[in-house]
Amino acid sequence: MARCRCSGRALCLCLLPFLMMSHLLVYIMVSIFVAMSYTPEPQLPRHYVAPGVSSNSGALAPHPLATFWNLRLVEGALWNRLQHLQDREHNPILKGNSTGDRGPSTDPNYMHETEADGSTPCSPDHLWASQLPDFNTMPEQMQDFVLSMHCRHYSLLIDQPGLCAEQDAETETLMLLMAIKSQVGHFENRQAIRETWGRSGLVKEEAGGKRWQVRTIFLLGRQDGTTGPHPDLVALLKLESDHHKDILQWDFRDTFFNLTLKDLLFWDWLSMHCPHAHFVFKGDDDVFVRTGALLDYLNEHKAPSQGENNRSKGKEDFLVGDVITNAWPSRQANTKYYIPESFYKGVYPAYAGGGGVVYSGALALRLQVVSRWVSLFPIDDVYLGMCLHRLGISPLHHPGFLTFDLPEAEREKPCAYRRVLLVHKRSPKEMLTLWKELKAPLPEC
Ligand SMILES: *[C@@H]1O[C@H](CO)[C@@H](O)[C@H](O)[C@H]1NC(C)=O
Ligand SMILES: *[C@@H]1O[C@H](CO)[C@@H](O)[C@H](O)[C@H]1NC(C)=O
Repeated sequence: MARCRCSGRALCLCLLPFLMMSHLLVYIMVSIFVAMSYTPEPQLPRHYVAPGVSSNSGALAPHPLATFWNLRLVEGALWNRLQHLQDREHNPILKGNSTGDRGPSTDPNYMHETEADGSTPCSPDHLWASQLPDFNTMPEQMQDFVLSMHCRHYSLLIDQPGLCAEQDAETETLMLLMAIKSQVGHFENRQAIRETWGRSGLVKEEAGGKRWQVRTIFLLGRQDGTTGPHPDLVALLKLESDHHKDILQWDFRDTFFNLTLKDLLFWDWLSMHCPHAHFVFKGDDDVFVRTGALLDYLNEHKAPSQGENNRSKGKEDFLVGDVITNAWPSRQANTKYYIPESFYKGVYPAYAGGGGVVYSGALALRLQVVSRWVSLFPIDDVYLGMCLHRLGISPLHHPGFLTFDLPEAEREKPCAYRRVLLVHKRSPKEMLTLWKELKAPLPEC
């Protein structure tokens, strides 16, 4: 027994290390298992590259800091809200490409009654004004704009359906259509333009010597307004238009905040009566343009004509001017450009200063289409930038477009104009003087 007991104890003593070893083994296995099943908090890299982005340059896209879509639309400004609805309504990804002409947004908060022909009735409407808490304290031009910003169809009082028709599209292409924003009373500006840089007919390039067809048309609204009574110039304007056949007049009040209507209505007119124009100039009636030099420049940028098969798409979507980027709306209530925060939030898209821009006729036709989905904005050049943005087109900057004029000391020197395509601003008298000076061969500069 004792032997047996002893041997039993010996056996226990012999087995002890194995027992301890097996415990150790279990412990190790459990810890390995726990370690394996433990996943740390996911650590995002400081820079996150979205799948599909190849970064050959080594520059990584930063990780977004917040959601990048705006969920709090109700806090947005009126224009941004209206445009958001439009963008959603006409988003080809959400809606396919069959959206077609569905007219204005169908959101009941923003819907205006639609007339049988699809246009909205153009009488002032307080629907959108009621969404602006500070409407009553806004400057008058802003109030007027909000009350009628649902209207974009105004009838023509004076039309020129034949302006481009004389052109035989086959033999003579219209190189440049100059559309100039004018007002009823600016008879002298228009006449100075006709006698100088805006002469219709065959115009010679400055360096190239080739001659191109150029047509000029003036864009006018109605002259009446809040600034008191005006002398009645209707008969005089009729006389001028009968004589020169270069006036387009629409039935809306010609005010600064209604200038965008001139773009929209002019694009409509152009697509009906002048769709073949190679290029369009659109500018003010107080600028000076070196038309010959502009023709030189445009000839270089002309897309190959229909017959040639190497048509380059890029040149068709062409817009050049004095490009302004990262501009913010003016928040000073006493300025002409004031836009209240409740109306528009955010930075303006890149745009070309409205004193004068040049774009291709093909682009004008695309603008006519896309502008239907861009809510009216009171500043016309910014509005054009908004339309370009939606077409994915960047305006080209050209240093020859001086919408802020030359340095004062150089304005009298003809040499200073050598590289100028357009300069703002010049009175009718100055236009005539400058035209004469620049016609003579420039002295050595
Ligand atoms: C868009 O619509 C046109 C005609 O309506 C059709 O030919 C085209 O295939 C459509 N494109 C897509 C991507 O659905
Ligand atoms: C624009 O023209 C329309 C029609 O004449 C007018 O009702 C509206 O008040 C004008 N808007 C501005 C901002 O002057």
